[in-house]
Amino acid sequence: MSTHVSHHHDFSNPDAAYAELARDLEALLAGERDLIANAANTAALIWEALPDLNWTGFYLYKSGELVLGPFQGKPACVRIALGKGVCGTAAARRATVVVEDVHAFPGHIACDSASNSEIVVPLMRGAELLGVLDLDSPKHARFGAADQRGLEALARIFVESLSR
Ligand code: SME
Repeated sequence: MSTHVSHHHDFSNPDAAYAELARDLEALLAGERDLIANAANTAALIWEALPDLNWTGFYLYKSGELVLGPFQGKPACVRIALGKGVCGTAAARRATVVVEDVHAFPGHIACDSASNSEIVVPLMRGAELLGVLDLDSPKHARFGAADQRGLEALARIFVESLSR
């Protein structure tokens, strides 16, 4: 495993920064397929690299609900039903959900009162839902189209790391 990870991504050019981050994640997960280990390192890399986050991590799909996985940030709610909150909505739709103002999202689950915006990317292995990747920010409308593209690419790298 390469231990070289750059912490100096320049998010004034988000697509370039996410491309660099994708290369860092490939290197970080190379040679390992353990889900907990790779989820923990993915959460830590995102936490170190992205500005203006107060929480990032995984909910894993187990027995029909989302269960808290590896993360960075304050302790969080453990179980989320499909269709509930931003995480459960993204999981039920199998599609990324971007929320500019969590206080205006019906059913938002407030784990950390510092959160004002959120993005949740489902983790799909083919048609199988593995869980979601969740990022929260204290900034209003922190996440845009470039974040969605970039984080969906990181989620794919994570999912692919589990089955090689
Ligand atoms: N806000 C999320 C719950 C998870 S925490 O933000 C870590 C939601 O509404 O699904």
